[in-house]
Amino acid sequence: MTAGGDAVTLVEMAPRDGLQNEATPLTPDIRIELIQRLASTGLTQIEAGAFVSPKWVPQMAGSDTVLASLQHDAGIRYPVLVPNMKGFEAAQAAGARDVSVFAAASESFSRKNINCSIAESLERFRPVCEAAQAQGLRLRGYVSCVMGCPYEGPVDPEAVLAVSRELFAMGCEEISLGDTIGTGTPAATRHLLALLTQELPVGRLAAHFHDTYGQALANLLVALEAGVRVIDASVAGLGGCPYAKGASGNVGTEDVLYMLNGMGMTTGVDLDAIVDVGAWICEQLGRPPASKAARALAARRQST
Ligand code: HMG
Ligand code: MG
Repeated sequence: MTAGGDAVTLVEMAPRDGLQNEATPLTPDIRIELIQRLASTGLTQIEAGAFVSPKWVPQMAGSDTVLASLQHDAGIRYPVLVPNMKGFEAAQAAGARDVSVFAAASESFSRKNINCSIAESLERFRPVCEAAQAQGLRLRGYVSCVMGCPYEGPVDPEAVLAVSRELFAMGCEEISLGDTIGTGTPAATRHLLALLTQELPVGRLAAHFHDTYGQALANLLVALEAGVRVIDASVAGLGGCPYAKGASGNVGTEDVLYMLNGMGMTTGVDLDAIVDVGAWICEQLGRPPASKAARALAARRQST
């Protein structure tokens, strides 16, 4: 694996994408403890919450309390989602240094998720991006439904390119490509990245793959081969989107780490420590980890 070097950055999603779809909202205190435990594993980017409407996503209420409690000078970035200026201002008041806007490549998903068209969403993001840049905050953009939409089916890669292009033009430093419902296959991933990388720098693309159809690791391998070196993952495979019914979690951080370690790629993240955090948060949630590597490693520990 040479394209892009052998170092990979993992962006941990559990405190936001992981918990936003759980039936029982966790208190800010437990979310803070989750982030602190994750921060001790070697991760350098941990998505800490979302400044969205608590009526829409009650699980993310209290993201201001969570963010304000974190140490922002310890070499770890704590991005948060902001859908509009109201969210941006609240995030900034809580001390955000990294904010992410989130668009979609599918009109129907955009309406269900953020109650506006793609074009309207980009107009809402424009002042957010301007303010973030003016204040020196790091800005990430998500594009959802890059390979499939729960309401419209397969999504045209050209639509992904069009939205990504707009987000880059507004100043996003990185675009995270969301396979929101996990329907993408390696062939679709290769096709999408071949188109995007004709125009966009691969070093500024991230892979955000949900594992609903068990394709995420295969798709990540294709993305790595194409030169992508930033991977979003969620400890224990927690996650989903409240506006993508039936979608399961992000690819498990344990699964990604196990694969990357086996490939000799470096992340700086300790797999055993991640397994411990996954076991802890699953205890809080009263459910087993979805990550296969987490389950296998836990079983191996018990048998030795
Ligand atoms: P809206 O109803 O169109 O907004 O929602 P509005 O401007 O008309 O305001 C309505 C109410 O919401 C007002 O309150 C506002 O103050 C309030 P009221 O007067 O009724 O009491 N409001 C807010 N409150 C808190 N924070 C805010 C905010 N903005 C307005 N920022 C809105 C539009 C975007 C707010 C809404 O649709 C929303 O919050 N949606 C949540 C979307 C979400 O969090 N989805 C999950 C994350 S995206 C994802 O998971 C995909 C990703 O992982 C990548 C992938 O996998 O593809 C990123
Ligand atoms: Mg997601």
